[in-house]
Amino acid sequence: MNNAVLRSAGVNQTFLGEVVAGLGQTPKALSPKWLYDHEGSKLFEQITHLPEYYPTRTEIDLLAHIVPSLSEALADRRLLIEYGSGSSRKTRLLLGAMPNLEHYVPMDVSGEFLRGVADGLSKQFPNVQVRPLVGDFNVSLKIPAELREQSSLGFFPGSTIGNLTPAKASEFLRLRRDELGEGGELLVGVDLRKPVDVLLAAYDDSAGVTAAFNRNLLTRINRELGGDFDLQRFAHEARWNDDFGRIEMHLVSRGEQTVRIAEHCFEFADGESIHSENSHKYRIGEFKLLARASRWDVRQLWTDDKQWFGVFLLG
Ligand code: SAH
Ligand code: AVI
Repeated sequence: MNNAVLRSAGVNQTFLGEVVAGLGQTPKALSPKWLYDHEGSKLFEQITHLPEYYPTRTEIDLLAHIVPSLSEALADRRLLIEYGSGSSRKTRLLLGAMPNLEHYVPMDVSGEFLRGVADGLSKQFPNVQVRPLVGDFNVSLKIPAELREQSSLGFFPGSTIGNLTPAKASEFLRLRRDELGEGGELLVGVDLRKPVDVLLAAYDDSAGVTAAFNRNLLTRINRELGGDFDLQRFAHEARWNDDFGRIEMHLVSRGEQTVRIAEHCFEFADGESIHSENSHKYRIGEFKLLARASRWDVRQLWTDDKQWFGVFLLG
C-alpha cells in the first residue's frame, strides 16, 4: 500500500509518520505508547498478574494501606483525573474512599479498551460521572471548562512515569501542575532500584507474555500500516542499561532482512534492534529532585518493606 492508499483507508497518520521516522533513524526506536492497541492493553493486563511482575501487586498493597490514612484529603476532592488509566483496577480503591467525588476522568491512548473500562465503572459507581478521554498525556489535556474549577486530584500509578525519559517526566509533571490547578495534588507510583536479576525476570517472564506484548507492536504495524514484519524473525529482549538506570525492551532482528511498510523499506542487520520501551527505575532521592525541579513539593512518600516501589503524594 502506498501513502495515498493508506490515507484514504483511514490510517493513523501520526502512527505512520512516527514509525517511518523511528525506523529510519539509528538506532531504531519507537515511542512505547504504540504498544497499546486493544490487544496490547489486554496483554499488559496479563503481565500485571504474572508472578515475576512485582510492581502491580506491590503498589496495590501500598495503596490499600495508604487510602485510609488519606481519607481526609480524599473526602474533599470533587474531580479525579487518571493518566494512562488502563484497567483502572487501582482506582477502584480510591473511588470507594471519595464520598464527594463528582467526576472521574480516566485518560488513555488505548481508546476502545478505555471505553469498555469506563462503561463498567459507571455501573459500579453510579454517583460518579465517568468521563473517559482518549489522548496523549505528553500534551496538556482538554479538560471540560465546568470541571476546571473543581478541587482536583491527579493519579498516575503503575510507574508509567518510568516509561518517560527524566526530561519528558519533568515536562509531564509541569503540565499537570497547571492542569490540576491551585490546591491540586498528584499521587504518583514510581518503581525503584532493585537487584538487576529481579528486573530482568519481570521484563522477560517465563510464560512469554512480555515477549508477546512487545512483538504485538509488529503485528499492529502489519495490520494498521500494511507492514510485512515476519514475527518469527524478531526476538524479544529485556536489557538493563546501568548508565541510564533503566530496563529497555528491544525487538532484535534474527539475521539480515528488509521490512516493507507502506511504500517504505527498512534494512535490518543481524542483531540490530528496534528499541520499543524504557522503564526507568528511580532512587528515592532522584525522584524527589525531579518532582521539586518540576514545581511540585513532596508531601508524603510510602514504600513497601523492601523499598521496591514508592507512592509519592505531590502538592
Ligand atoms: N494505570 C494502570 C495502567 C498502566 S499501563 C496501572 O497502573 O496498572 C500504562 C497505561 O498508559 C496503558 O493503559 C497505556 O495505554 C497508557 N499510555 C501509555 N502511553 C500513553 C500516552 N502517551 N498517553 C496516554 N496514555 C498512555
Ligand atoms: C506501564 N509500564 C509502567 C510498564 C512497565 O513496567 O514499564 C509496561 C511494561 N513493559 C513491559 N512490562 C510492562
